Amino acid sequence: MKTGVRRRDLLALAAAPLLPGTALRAAAVPKIKDVSVIPTEPAGVRLVIVKVQTDQDGLYGYGCATFTQRADLVVEAVNRYLKPLVTGRPADAIEDLWNAMYNSSYWRNGPVLNNAISGIDQALWDIKGRQAGMPVYELLGGKCRRGAMIYSHAAGREISETLDEARKLMAGGVRAVRLQVGVPGMAAYGAPGQKKSGDDAAQQDPVFDPDAYVRRTLQLFEAARKELGGEVYLLHDVHERVPPRLAVQFAKDLEQFKLFFMEDALSPENIDYFRQIRAQCATPLAMGELFNNPHEWNMLIRESLIDYIRVHVTQAGGLTPCWKMAAMAEAFQVRTAWHGPGDVSPVGHCANVTLDVACPNFGIQEWTAPNERIQEVFDGYPVMKDGYAYANEKPGWGVEINAAAAAKYPFGFSERGDGKRLNGGWGVVRRPDGTVINQ
Ligand code: CO
Repeated sequence: MKTGVRRRDLLALAAAPLLPGTALRAAAVPKIKDVSVIPTEPAGVRLVIVKVQTDQDGLYGYGCATFTQRADLVVEAVNRYLKPLVTGRPADAIEDLWNAMYNSSYWRNGPVLNNAISGIDQALWDIKGRQAGMPVYELLGGKCRRGAMIYSHAAGREISETLDEARKLMAGGVRAVRLQVGVPGMAAYGAPGQKKSGDDAAQQDPVFDPDAYVRRTLQLFEAARKELGGEVYLLHDVHERVPPRLAVQFAKDLEQFKLFFMEDALSPENIDYFRQIRAQCATPLAMGELFNNPHEWNMLIRESLIDYIRVHVTQAGGLTPCWKMAAMAEAFQVRTAWHGPGDVSPVGHCANVTLDVACPNFGIQEWTAPNERIQEVFDGYPVMKDGYAYANEKPGWGVEINAAAAAKYPFGFSERGDGKRLNGGWGVVRRPDGTVINQ
């Protein structure tokens, strides 16, 4: 890597005597020379990576800009709007550039634009780390823990299958497991769907019955505590699929099973109902993967209505706003649980783990293991061992991308049916009466 040359230059400068009051800024400030996008789908999920190149030889950075359901629009937002805005500007002014990008559209805080901003924001942090010869966590003040406790997903069509999956994870050293189970005769979130026999052929969309789902999930947790014991941390994702009144009742009914957290009990549109859940039970609450806008998280944190803020870092605009969000949450004893599924790129997972090890109020990290194709395209996925994820020790995020390998897996290459027809977008979920509900 050519950045090694620059590190040697910096070391030489550091060894040279400085005049009193002279800052160590003899090296030229790198300017943004080019911005490009790497769209790739190695694990069947559309990922968007932004590469920012500087005018200094070999100095560049990568950022995650993945909004998988509208990936093509993020590519356009970067290429047509942000690239012309930032090209030629100093790469080291991250805060200034973030504000420039954020304000330049006038209308702001949407997922497409926030992801585009994140791609450049994270790439600039990568560049700064490579310049300094340090991992990004060092630029945030250094580590305050060795590694980040992770949770993995266990799911099955039947309760026994979910518990078997959980046992396998626990045997591998995982200390926290998210449990989801299918519901007979309907679709489920995070677990295999089940079709009713004799389904109306005209009814193509998956059907989800909130009441049946809640009853089944309570059975799952009763069995889990009996069979898995009291020590393992258990989590569950409601995925905002139940009406607010049922969510309040569900949180109360889950209280006895002592969850690590209950995730997305409400949709962002209904966050006022968190006051009611909070007033009626002590089930720990996690919220935020759909948030784009400070108005969504400010109130929940300020009023201590949640225990974990679990924003999708790129949806909020990248590392810069999320580091601030973590600091704000710390003041209210709210901990972090950054969103970490397969639609976060390996660069994004590195940003997550960087925040995890650098922020004192870290809670837990959602973990997705990389498949072989991901590892072929991306070198530097964070390492997970015995239930903890570890930050890379190389400069920046510590990630390199094999562009030729990325090009082998273009958008859509593994998509079939509706996924292909909808250009990687998601379809529709309905209640049994046909009403469209949240995904
Ligand atoms: Co979720």
